[in-house]
Amino acid sequence: MYEEITHPCVQHKLALIRNVETGHKKFRELATEITMFVCYEALKKLSVKEVDVETPVATAKCHVIAEDIVVVPILRAGVGMLDGILSLVPSARVGFVGLYRDEKTKEPVTYYERMPREVKGGVCIIVDPMIATGGSTVAAIDLLKQQGATKIVVVCVVTCPEGVKRVADAHPDVQIYAASVDAGLNEKKYIVPGLGDAGDRLFGTS
Ligand code: PRP
Ligand code: URA
Repeated sequence: MYEEITHPCVQHKLALIRNVETGHKKFRELATEITMFVCYEALKKLSVKEVDVETPVATAKCHVIAEDIVVVPILRAGVGMLDGILSLVPSARVGFVGLYRDEKTKEPVTYYERMPREVKGGVCIIVDPMIATGGSTVAAIDLLKQQGATKIVVVCVVTCPEGVKRVADAHPDVQIYAASVDAGLNEKKYIVPGLGDAGDRLFGTS
């Protein structure tokens, strides 16, 4: 299951971040901005609880987020989405999963994991700009479920039908939110048209 965020403001920023001429400083800014828009949608089903707030005039019935939120960026490129999501949910806890794609097999290899204690009761939001084959996302979801997480959402910038299908087949309960579902993968398992290597473009490596 997935939702593509087709809002004109998101699509405009997507046009800028895709451009090969966009350097790492601008790329990072756009990744943060797109993340905020996509997360705004992804977080719309969070439960809230009613609280009384004294305004200078009267008591207002207000609503605050009632859920414990754990944000899980997939290293490295997911770090480029951390500022964006934390600006929406500043009190979220953060867990890290380090995964890279093996150059030959294109399958994910886990090299780091550091989760907050007790992810069971909360909502876990995995962030990674790219869901290509879907292998890295499935591995991150597997890990969270092993730790007892039951409510998991994935936010990315770009995905493709192959990635969406792999995640849906393995974890039909997990919803993906994306700024774009692109046409597909090339022979190197890069998303087409995509935006290239997100980690390299975020951090100025190649
Ligand atoms: C990229 C991206 C995802 C993964 C997607 O990371 O950030 O984690 O590839 O590919 P998949 O859906 O086929 O698994 P990469 O392995 O390039 O590592 P990096 O973030 O350290 O650059
Ligand atoms: N990882 C990326 O950074 N980009 C892709 O298109 C696929 C995997």
